[in-house]
Amino acid sequence: MIIVGSVRPGRVGLPIAEWVRGEAEKTGKFEIDFVDLKELALPFMDEPAHPRLKQYTQPHTIAWSERVDAAEAFIFVTPEYNYSYSPALKNALDFLNQEWWRKPVGFVSYGGISSGTRGMAALLPSLAVLGLVRVGANVELTFGGKQVVDGVFQPQEKELAIIAHELEELEALATALAPLQSGANT
Ligand SMILES: Cc1cc2nc3c(=O)[nH]c(=O)nc-3n(C[C@H](O)[C@H](O)[C@H](O)COP(=O)(O)O)c2cc1C
Repeated sequence: MIIVGSVRPGRVGLPIAEWVRGEAEKTGKFEIDFVDLKELALPFMDEPAHPRLKQYTQPHTIAWSERVDAAEAFIFVTPEYNYSYSPALKNALDFLNQEWWRKPVGFVSYGGISSGTRGMAALLPSLAVLGLVRVGANVELTFGGKQVVDGVFQPQEKELAIIAHELEELEALATALAPLQSGANT
């Protein structure tokens, strides 16, 4: 599952995520569920019970739960906003709990000079509590918006190498972690 974390008009996250989708498709190893959080349009967390209990009341939560349940690995494409990550992504994470448990995640982060890395680092405690397992290789784009030309992301050689490595790690970890996914995240 590739999650587009940015929902702003004119966001550069969408072309970056489309590039990621293309690279993942090229490997022939993944069936991709492309989640644009703008299209998904979850409201702010509106469930009465803790998501750990899976007592979902809203159709949008049930649909999101089924979709994430079916995913075996994730790439979060996230910008940095004020030294942190995308609030839409945090909201989408908070809606669920068990569905993320012991599944691997890689990042494609972007922002200004920091390449979105402060935003990514700020998300790490939430990943840990949800049981998401971060891969080591992450694409980090310095002023990534400058690489979007006519709506298409133009990767550098090093970014092509890193995304290939990141996808390999995701595949390996997804296989290794699958047997560990039963049992509750308590
Ligand atoms: C509200 C806001 C806050 C931002 N804060 C940071 C920041 O703290 N560090 C940084 O490197 N870039 C920051 N930026 C720049 C964004 O990371 C950059 O514009 C990025 O392209 C935004 O992603 P998007 O176009 O997909 O929404 C900020 C942009 C916005 C709109």
